[in-house]
Amino acid sequence: MTQVDDPVAIAGAPTASFVLNGEWVSVYRRHPHLLAALREELDVTSPKDGCSPSGQCGCCTVLIDGKAVVSCQQSLDKIEGSSIVTLEGVDQAERDTFADAFAACGGLQCGFCIPGIVMRAKAQIDKKGASLTREAMKPHLGAHLCRCTGYVKVLDAIEAVAQGRVCEPELASTIGGSGAKYEAAALTLGDRGYVDDIRVPGMLHAALRLTDHARAEVLAIDPSGALGADGVRAVLTAADIPGELRVGLIHKDWPIMIPVNGFTSCAGDVLAIVVADTREQARAAADLVDVEYDTLPPNTDPVAALAEGAPLSVWGTSSNTLSVSAYSRGDPIDEVLARSAHTVHETFRTQRIEHAFLEPESTLAVPSGDGETRTLHVYSGGQGVWDDRNDIAAMLELDRSRVTVELVSNGGAFGGKEDMSNQAHAALAAWLLDHPVKCTLSREESFRIHAKRHPITLEFHAGCDAEGNLTALKVRGIGDSGAYASVGMKVLERAAGHSSGPYRWEAVDVETIAVRTNNLVCGAFRGFGANQAQFATEGVLDRLAAMVGISGWEIRKRNVVRSGDTWGPGQVMDDGANGAEACLDTIRDDYESTVASGKAVGLGLGLKNSGLGNGFREVSGAVVRFRSSDGRVEVRHGWTEMGQGVHTVAVQVAAQELGIDPARIDVIVDTTRELGFGQTTGSRGTLMAAGSVQQACQAAIAAGCAPDVDHCGEHVVDWTHHLGDPEHPNPTIHSCFSYAAQMVVIDRDSGAIERVLAVHDVGKAVNPTLVEGQIEGSVHMGLGYALSEDFPTDPETGFPTNLTLRSLGILRAKDVPPIDVRIVEVPQPRSPYGIKGVGEIGLVPTAPAVAAALHDLDGEWRTSLPMRSGE
Ligand code: FES
Ligand code: FES
Repeated sequence: MTQVDDPVAIAGAPTASFVLNGEWVSVYRRHPHLLAALREELDVTSPKDGCSPSGQCGCCTVLIDGKAVVSCQQSLDKIEGSSIVTLEGVDQAERDTFADAFAACGGLQCGFCIPGIVMRAKAQIDKKGASLTREAMKPHLGAHLCRCTGYVKVLDAIEAVAQGRVCEPELASTIGGSGAKYEAAALTLGDRGYVDDIRVPGMLHAALRLTDHARAEVLAIDPSGALGADGVRAVLTAADIPGELRVGLIHKDWPIMIPVNGFTSCAGDVLAIVVADTREQARAAADLVDVEYDTLPPNTDPVAALAEGAPLSVWGTSSNTLSVSAYSRGDPIDEVLARSAHTVHETFRTQRIEHAFLEPESTLAVPSGDGETRTLHVYSGGQGVWDDRNDIAAMLELDRSRVTVELVSNGGAFGGKEDMSNQAHAALAAWLLDHPVKCTLSREESFRIHAKRHPITLEFHAGCDAEGNLTALKVRGIGDSGAYASVGMKVLERAAGHSSGPYRWEAVDVETIAVRTNNLVCGAFRGFGANQAQFATEGVLDRLAAMVGISGWEIRKRNVVRSGDTWGPGQVMDDGANGAEACLDTIRDDYESTVASGKAVGLGLGLKNSGLGNGFREVSGAVVRFRSSDGRVEVRHGWTEMGQGVHTVAVQVAAQELGIDPARIDVIVDTTRELGFGQTTGSRGTLMAAGSVQQACQAAIAAGCAPDVDHCGEHVVDWTHHLGDPEHPNPTIHSCFSYAAQMVVIDRDSGAIERVLAVHDVGKAVNPTLVEGQIEGSVHMGLGYALSEDFPTDPETGFPTNLTLRSLGILRAKDVPPIDVRIVEVPQPRSPYGIKGVGEIGLVPTAPAVAAALHDLDGEWRTSLPMRSGE
């Protein structure tokens, strides 16, 4: 570590003055924009920073002289003398009105975007009053991104406020009750802090120096330029790491930093950490760390990377093949194909996608104590605080007991916060400097560092008999997994497993390969391989239906998997599988009448596992504790709240089981108790948390609800098998699946998507309002995946070609068609309350349904995503 003993004091005079929430204030002019002055100097944190200074997410919206504007685009010169209002300064009655409406309508999930949207809505309602309609509001939301809700319930809430409807939200007290989300009011108003909203005395800021080349040897790192910059306290490199250099969820192959004489492997690699008094100083100085490289051509084509003699993509590995997932069943596949009445052969290509959660990654690490008793408390928004703790302890060569990681519910994740991003860097800096250190990524850094959705090429051969009964499925898939393993092998395994869709096939032969390249790391993202695979599966089903001369609905009905059937990978399905047919039957009348009306119609049917399966022993712990000090009830569990509502589920289970007012319950996640055993991933949070909280409540009741002791419960899933396990000809690779049928309707004149009908089997809807919101948000994401979203990298450099939120192709509010959600409940055996997961299935059938509707519109079969990019 190179450290500055006496950093240069911050220069600048408090010369910018304005009225903030009715009071004159003065701030230093050194801030790059108003948002930084509000958040970093005035500690006004309801405006959130999702993308500063680019002005593309709307999270930082405030009122300036009565107009809604994004504060990250306002220089301090510009706002001198203006009157600025943030949510903190809005009249309490009006704050309550917005909070109640958003809570009652389910108008928020992670909540990160909502304070900005509320300010925009306030400006419009101030102007137009009750005449403000949802249609009129939509264009104004064009300045905002919400990645969670699909805007449907956001607009419901705004409409409710505009029309003066009285909303009285309450937490639901039973399983199946439609109530408000836990902490909904505080989230709506921006009062429930995210990691970047936390301030502690003496806190320093860290920024990361990223690589300039995706594949290069690092010859030298010179920190002297950074060390001489204003406010800089230290520059850390890999040489300062006392313990393990590498972290990783499955393989420990991801270097926290690349050392001198090490090799970079992707554009997200970190070379140094700069610690300074302010974030701006740290970021500016990070650019001054000089690095000398010997550059090498990156492997950016996964097929070429697999070829004999291709150079190794990733430093410290021995092969570019990360994994091969394969299974087969039935007669030899080519024979079955040869005797099929109809066959199709098609190659499908899906694109790389960025999660675009609205809250960039942020970590705060706070050391305390001295010597051997010194400990580190880390505030993380990650999806697996236990993995974070273990990797941080290994990096610092500390006993795990000296590191606590506390979950701060995050501003969206969708799988993108499973791997460590900056947790280790903040922890290292805090530990070595013995100071609290916060590291918050800029939007560009976030894009480069966290894992993306895999681009996968899938070659499908499929056949059916003359009546449309499916015969053979042969799949060969290659996924570009980027540099580090993350969970890439599991994504390709899931793509393999799900490539047969929710159908019976006489014979299957499937192989998928995850390839290491020098592109950005790919890993977990809502759907986890199932989306890519079923875009192809549903595509071949539609082509076969056309050959047989039956409808898309009919071919699915003839082949849908039911209880007792053998599913593609060989699993004999349980009664939960009847949800697939229930979805099809529910959608039938609407499908047939819409087809008869002459609209262009596409149908998709999908399944998605809930839980890790594949032989893992999955355990969820929970604790219920009655606090005698204040009469409140703690529910501690192990799952990350990231907008999906797992804390709300925990509250509803405890309220029902204990028969108490849900308002008495506090939900806590931290690593001081061993309650979690893995990532909040695989749509399993709801069912695993519900199971363990239910057990903890029953233990509490058995113990007379004794105060101030831990009443513990556990939910275990330990009966699954590996995909392709030779010892189990019919392996139960997943304990649970959820199912969905979606219909996309296109207007033949305009070519616009007119509506989406989403019928979902969720087993048991714990909170139907939240379930609907999850599905609406998923469909919004699925439409973007189908039509416009992409995150390409340059084949010459491996670097992303665009680093702005606007360039991602995410659909804005005005582009989202009406989404009609219908919930089906076919209970899952052996699952608490019959719950199936809902987090990922929502967008599995969307892209294929869009593809089928487009084919109905113009007769063209689609094979690549996105389907309307650039139109
Ligand atoms: S932070 Fe200002 S628009 Fe995103
Ligand atoms: S609620 Fe809008 S981004 Fe999460």
